[in-house]
Parts: sequence; structure tokens; C-alpha cells
Amino acid sequence: MTPGSVDDPVRALREAIAAARGILIVTGAGVSAESGVPTFRGEGGLWKRRRVEDLATPGAFRRDPRTVWEWYAERREAIGRCTPNAAHRAIAALLLRRSDVTVVTQNVDGLHDRAIIEAGEELPHPRLIHLHGSLFTLRCVSCPWQEPHSAAPIDPSSEVSLPRCPACGAMARPGVVWFGEPLPEAALREASIAATAAELCLVVGTSAVVYPAASIPQVAVEAGARLAEFNPSPTPLTPLATWIFRQAAGKILPYIIHEVE
Ligand code: OAD
Repeated sequence: MTPGSVDDPVRALREAIAAARGILIVTGAGVSAESGVPTFRGEGGLWKRRRVEDLATPGAFRRDPRTVWEWYAERREAIGRCTPNAAHRAIAALLLRRSDVTVVTQNVDGLHDRAIIEAGEELPHPRLIHLHGSLFTLRCVSCPWQEPHSAAPIDPSSEVSLPRCPACGAMARPGVVWFGEPLPEAALREASIAATAAELCLVVGTSAVVYPAASIPQVAVEAGARLAEFNPSPTPLTPLATWIFRQAAGKILPYIIHEVE
């Protein structure tokens, strides 16, 4: 489908964006697909090639921190070579243009943040909420220390070269949420507040199967928001959507957002 053939839903959604007081944008790995960042599920997905249990759980890190760090170090380097795409830029533009827009992302790739920097704003942005942490933050496994860490590459060649906590000397780990771990409390609370307040919810590039993140758009709909889904494939949220756009996010989102009055 070309943008031209969906003119009516496009126009209707543009009007809804212009009229809404409170817009929640929930994103997942698909928003970064056009930047070259692999998604988790579906063809070529990360979880098709590797097992979650070996890489993204606290138990995996306890058993084999070197293998876990090897995987995260590779992802940090690969994503460091990627750049924000047109969907990240369109979302950043809407976020910065209006004070009633909140972006809730499951992504740990930092590409929303980089689009905001490219648009000339500083980080952290108070209305960009990271539900699953960041690949570019380090956290201590035993004390509360955590710090942004994007500069030096991680050397996973031996356990001795792995990063350590400067506060207590214990092992440092990637600052992402692993399976079986709770989400950061403040992030989840702020996301729920934004969901309850939103009149419109745009869901972009998520399979919507990982909870509690997948419940955030549901909370918005239950509180009265209308939902627009941007995803080439159906998801469990599709039946809740007023608008469904099956194109790649980087094609359709800018087309919609940049033209909003
Ligand atoms: P998934 O890999 O589960 O889903 C990606 C979604 O993006 C799929 O529904 C695709 O159809 C869609 N998609 C692909 N290309 C797209 C494009 N160009 N434009 C729009 N959509 C596109 O990723 P998430 O839903 O983000 O958790 O996964 C949720 C969580 O599962 C992740 O945050 C991660 C993972 O395990 C943790 O790391 C805790």
C-alpha cells in the first residue's frame, strides 16, 4: 500500500493527532528495524538465533557473565554504527513540538534519544520513558550503582577484562531489564500515568507480547484513548485499533506526523 492509497485514514489520524489532548507513543524493536537493528521475533529475529535463557536472564549472567557480555558488547558496537531513521525523527519532532506527548519505548538501543539530540535538545528527556533500560548504561549486580556508559568498548575476552562496579568492586552488568526482572518502578508508573491521560495512543513496531509493556496501550484504550497501530504484521493489539497501518514505520509515520497542523 502506498501512502497515497490510504488517504482517508491518514487524514483522519492527522486530525485526531491535531485534536488530541495527550498523546502516548509506545514503541518496540520494529521502529529501529529500518536503522538496521534486528528485531527479537519474526524472521531474522534475535530470539530465533539465540536462547533468551542463555543471554537475557539474571541466571545466565551468574552462570556465564563472559558469554552474556560478549553478546551485549557486540550489540552495543553494531547499534553504535546505526543511526536514527525517519520514524525516530518524526516521533522526536512530535515530542519536542508538543508538551502533551509522551514516548514509552521498550527499546534499549538509544535511537529515540539520538533523534532528540539530532533535533537539538538535551538528554535525558523527561517525556521519553525507557521501560527496559539501556544498552548504554552499566549497573552493578550487587549495589545501587549505575552510570551511562557509551564511550569505551567492553572487552569480553576474559572474566578479568569485564567491567566492574567502581563503588563496590562487584561485577557490572548491562543496564537492561532481563526476563524475570521487574521493570524500573518510576518508568512503569510514569508510563501508566501517561496512558491514563492520553486521548490517542500510537503503537509502533512492537509485537505486543511482552508484559507489562504490552499492557500500557491497553491501559490507554481502557481509559478512553483511540489507538493507531503501525506494524506490517497483526498483533494482539490489532483488535483494539481504530487505525491500522501495515507499512514500515519509517515510511508512513513521517508522512502522517510532519503534515499535522
Ligand atoms: P519484537 O521483535 O517482538 O517485535 C517487533 C515488531 O516490529 C514485530 O511485530 C514486527 O512486525 C514489527 N516491525 C518490523 N519491522 C517494522 C517496521 N519497519 N516498522 C514497523 N514495525 C515493524 O520486538 P518488541 O515488541 O520490541 O525485551 O519486543 C519486546 C521485548 O521483547 C523487547 O523489549 C525485548 C524482547 O525480548 C527485553 O529485552 C526485556
